[in-house]
Amino acid sequence: MNKIIQLFNIKYPIIQGGMIWNSGYKLASAVSNAGGLGLIGAGSMYPEVLREHIQKCKKATDKPFGVNVPMLYPNIEEIMKIIVDEDVKIVFTSAGNPKTWTSFLKGEGITVVHVVSSSVFALKAQDAGVDAVVAEGFEAGGHNGREETTTFTLIPMVKEKIKIPLIAAGGIANGRGMLAAMVLGADGVQVGSRFAASVESSAHENFKNKIIETREGETQVTLKELAPVRLIKNKFYEDVQNLYSKCPTKEELSGLLGRARAKHGMFEGDLDEGELEIGQIAGLIHEIKPASEIIKEMIADFELAKNDIVKCTF
Ligand SMILES: Cc1cc2nc3c(=O)[nH]c(=O)nc-3n(C[C@H](O)[C@H](O)[C@H](O)COP(=O)(O)O)c2cc1C
Repeated sequence: MNKIIQLFNIKYPIIQGGMIWNSGYKLASAVSNAGGLGLIGAGSMYPEVLREHIQKCKKATDKPFGVNVPMLYPNIEEIMKIIVDEDVKIVFTSAGNPKTWTSFLKGEGITVVHVVSSSVFALKAQDAGVDAVVAEGFEAGGHNGREETTTFTLIPMVKEKIKIPLIAAGGIANGRGMLAAMVLGADGVQVGSRFAASVESSAHENFKNKIIETREGETQVTLKELAPVRLIKNKFYEDVQNLYSKCPTKEELSGLLGRARAKHGMFEGDLDEGELEIGQIAGLIHEIKPASEIIKEMIADFELAKNDIVKCTF
């Protein structure tokens, strides 16, 4: 049996990545109800808001779901306490050291997965005792690894090093991408950008429409001195590039970024001044769809692609 299906007790090895300002309980429960694993993105939630989302998610689905905790945000201790209090069974940690929280969470009977961008970090996560890793390539939306390793190269290299189940992320938005990742050695996939442009995503309609207009080549990783992030090339991105031409200090870059840019862009819909995080695969996303349809299509496409490959002879 597929290791990811077994680990989470789900129908399909498709995980909806935790996404600040996009993945509240509506998206997480819709994905879980459709047979994938939905994740609530705690990174953009105050602790009490997270509690509310977990409680609503439990009412909206009787299927497994989880919480993604990027460890670079404040209030981590309070967030972890709520996760335990609310009896969440699955946690995906990211953007931090897997040693910090893994043994605590495992001690509470929680399945722990950590997101990495290199095989070195994958090994560290395995040593820290996680149940699986997400290996995320440089083409992914959101914060990226500094090494710029793409999913196509990262997955086989991580696969060579680790023994625990491996989930591929970055650039996967349909069944063909899913099949490719699994052929490279992944046991399942984590999908972000495709679900950001779903009906149930909590993002502003302006941002969802912007995703489907975004074409190949219209995203770029920037702000590497702070935390590398892949953004749509909008006015804010151009402002950052203009500042780079003046050889800015880290403080000047932080000053330009300011506070709440991501909220402003993705949640409040300011397409000029906001920070719009999305992956390169946005160029393949042409329609806002319900999460259940996205999953149904991915699985149908996966099966078709698999049959095409079987027929392939040389
Ligand atoms: C808008 C957006 C916000 C994201 N926020 C987070 C986050 O809060 N925590 C995290 O671990 N990953 C975050 N990610 C990464 C996703 O969980 C996922 O790994 C990634 O999107 C996969 O690549 P794809 O965008 O090519 O599908 C974010 C991605 C996007 C597009």
